[in-house]
Amino acid sequence: MSKIKKIKNYWELGYQIADIVEHTLTLPEPKLILPTGSTPLSLYKELVNRQLDWSSVTTYNLDEYVDNTIQDQSYRYFMVENLFKHINMDEDNIYFPGDTAVWPQMDYGIGVDLCLLGIGGNGHIAFNEPGSSFQSETRIVDLTEETIKDNSRFFPTIDDVPTQAVTMGLKPILSSKKIIIMANGKHKKDILEQAMYGDITEDIPASILQTHTNMEAFYCD
Ligand code: GLP
Repeated sequence: MSKIKKIKNYWELGYQIADIVEHTLTLPEPKLILPTGSTPLSLYKELVNRQLDWSSVTTYNLDEYVDNTIQDQSYRYFMVENLFKHINMDEDNIYFPGDTAVWPQMDYGIGVDLCLLGIGGNGHIAFNEPGSSFQSETRIVDLTEETIKDNSRFFPTIDDVPTQAVTMGLKPILSSKKIIIMANGKHKKDILEQAMYGDITEDIPASILQTHTNMEAFYCD
């Protein structure tokens, strides 16, 4: 049975998840799946502060917009600005969906040690929108109106929000050895509870995480 860990504030959320990442970085050649969005920002700040050794780490980002015309809203730009440019990652070990070659391997499992996830207002993880197959693999998807509206806060106007993205599928996400899902703010409470305690249904993509044997959910108001 999954359980939501209630954390006292947003900075503590970042701190506690950073402890888990720090532990993962002690493994040989660690492999991590990383999210974007506003939720992981306190985690990335804390990780930068800790000055850890990332030299043997490989990272795979969850998703990226397609046909995005606002470059500083690309997820690659977000990752460089908030994490990669501050740590000693080898650039060759950074992967985004849409990069060729690595993704077929991703889909059949490459032994990711830790997958970090946020959750969308409609229960999406990465850009696996409601209705996505639990067997889905990396692919281009249409974003729902709700997601476009949610993400318009980062763009000059709603018309600038891309309508498509390339996303890691639910199948490769589930093949990670450990999964952490994080949510920040009261507006995420209901959807996180539905995902963790409700029916396992493709209508709420994050609900499939209940089937994972090494998954933790972190929440703060
Ligand atoms: C986007 C991303 C998701 C992320 C979600 C939540 O849609 N594709 O990976 O989890 O936003 O974002 P935020 O943390 O800003 O609420």
